[in-house]
Amino acid sequence: MEDEYKSAKYYDKFLHLFVWRIRKKILQIVKKNQYKKILDVCCGTGNQLKILKKHGIDGTGIDLSKAMLEVAESGKIKVKCHVQDAENINFNDGSFDMTMTTFALHEKSHSSAKKILNEMIRLTRENCHLIIVDFSIDNNTFFLAKAGIKFIESSAGEDHYKHYKEYVASNGLDTLLEDSPLKEVEKHYFAFNGVVLKVLQKTK
Ligand SMILES: C[S@@+](CC[C@H](N)C(=O)[O-])C[C@H]1O[C@@H](n2cnc3c(N)ncnc32)[C@H](O)[C@@H]1O
Repeated sequence: MEDEYKSAKYYDKFLHLFVWRIRKKILQIVKKNQYKKILDVCCGTGNQLKILKKHGIDGTGIDLSKAMLEVAESGKIKVKCHVQDAENINFNDGSFDMTMTTFALHEKSHSSAKKILNEMIRLTRENCHLIIVDFSIDNNTFFLAKAGIKFIESSAGEDHYKHYKEYVASNGLDTLLEDSPLKEVEKHYFAFNGVVLKVLQKTK
């Protein structure tokens, strides 16, 4: 399968302004909850894991893109990531007290995103947390944010854009979370209400 993230080395620079407040909020949540075993699912360049590591917090990442993982394993702060499919992750049930995924679900088909979410639930210990960050496009989203996100997504390739449009049309994250054993404990909006961060507790 072709790696759609070949330009990985520019990825963090390109997105920095858009994501830095979100990365900082995740750092705050991690510090507050003192998670010890953290898994970043679809970790990409490992940018979030590097920020955590800079503050003395270790985590593990998985991603399918070798180009993204090369960036994760280079630079001043390196993080250990594995090439693994998020739909079928090779760790035991309940191995982590926090699993997170940021900006990955919207680019998958509904069935793939559901499989990824189910894997995160499986890997998270009971009563522990999942953090999910993704687009949230609705009437509360500022029109310029809608247009900017649409532009970024339409430049990301045909399948990616198709899945993004389906994700938005089907009410994205809320639909994915229906019938899941997850209770929302925190919610924050970013990018003029174009992005949502949810902290969810695994209840059973
Ligand atoms: C938009 S990037 C987000 C990366 C990172 N989470 C961030 O916030 O910058 C989506 C990532 O999901 C990864 N990905 C997509 N499908 C995957 C799968 N089935 N298994 C593992 N990684 C996957 C891609 O390789 C890419 O690195």
